[in-house]
Amino acid sequence: MSKNYAEKFDSLKDLFKAYRETGRCLASFNVNDNYDARAVIEAANEVGTNVMLMTYPPVIEGVGAEVFRGMTNGLKAIAKNDVYLHLDHSTSVDQCKWAIDAGFDSVMIDGSQHPIEKNIEMTKEVVEYAKSANVLVEAEVGKIMGRNVVVNSPDDFLASVADVKRLYTETGADIIAVGIGTAHGFTPTKPKIYFDRLQEIANAIVAPLVLHGGTGIPDEDIQKSISMGISKINIGTIVHTTYMKYFREGVVAAGDAAYPPLIMKEVLPEIIKVVVDRLKAVNV
Ligand code: 13P
Repeated sequence: MSKNYAEKFDSLKDLFKAYRETGRCLASFNVNDNYDARAVIEAANEVGTNVMLMTYPPVIEGVGAEVFRGMTNGLKAIAKNDVYLHLDHSTSVDQCKWAIDAGFDSVMIDGSQHPIEKNIEMTKEVVEYAKSANVLVEAEVGKIMGRNVVVNSPDDFLASVADVKRLYTETGADIIAVGIGTAHGFTPTKPKIYFDRLQEIANAIVAPLVLHGGTGIPDEDIQKSISMGISKINIGTIVHTTYMKYFREGVVAAGDAAYPPLIMKEVLPEIIKVVVDRLKAVNV
C-alpha cells in the first residue's frame, strides 16, 4: 500500500474530498451487530486503514439507530484508525432524519426507484436536514442490479450523465452512487461494468462517486474504478454470508449445547479474514 489510508481528517466530507483528489477509496462494509462490526474494525487495524461501517434499514429498525451509534462508539475504543458510521440504502426521508439525529456520520437517501424529479426532492430534504449536523449525504442515480431490481436493458439501470449532474447540482448531496452495471450479492458471471459511462460521469462532476455491489466485483475492476473517481465502495454480502456459514456450522457442531459467544470465537477470525482480503483489494 503506497497511499496513506490512515490519514486523519476534520470531517468525513474533508476525507472524501481528499480521497477523490488523490485517487483513494474508503472501503465500507455492511454490518449487522457488534460481532461483524468488531471484525471489520479488527481487520482495519490489521491493514492500517480508516473504514466505514454501514447499516441497512432493517438493522436500525431492529436495534435502534441510537443503540447502533452507541455500540459503534464503544467499539471505536479498539480502533487504531478512524471509523465512520453510515445508514445504507434508506428509501425513507424520515429514517434518514432519525439516523442524523442519532449521530450517524453519513446517510444514504436512495431515491433511485423514483423519477429524477422525485429523487431530487427527497435528496434535497435530507441534505437540508443534514446540514446543521454536518452529516454527509449519499444519493443515487441509476440502479444497482440484483435483489428485487428487475432490468431488461442498460437503460433500466445505467446512470445518465444528465441525471447525475442534476442530482448533484440541484441537491448539494456530497457523494453520488452510480448505477454502472454492478449488482448486489454474489454474481454468477463477472458483472459488465460500463467504464465509459463512469468516465463521463467523473468528467462531469467533481463529487466523490460510490460503487455498490462490492462482493461480486473482481479486484482489477475495483482498482480500475477507483482510478476513475470511485471514492467509496460498498461491500456487504461476503460479510454476512461468511458470518452465517461459520455460525451455522458452529450451531450444528455444538447441537443443544450451542452458546453464541463461544461459536462467535470461531466465526470472528473468518469474518476478519474476508474483510482483510477486501480491504487489500481496495487500498491500492
Ligand atoms: P454487496 O452485497 O454485493 O457486497 O453490495 C453491498 C452494497 O452495495 C451495499 O450498498
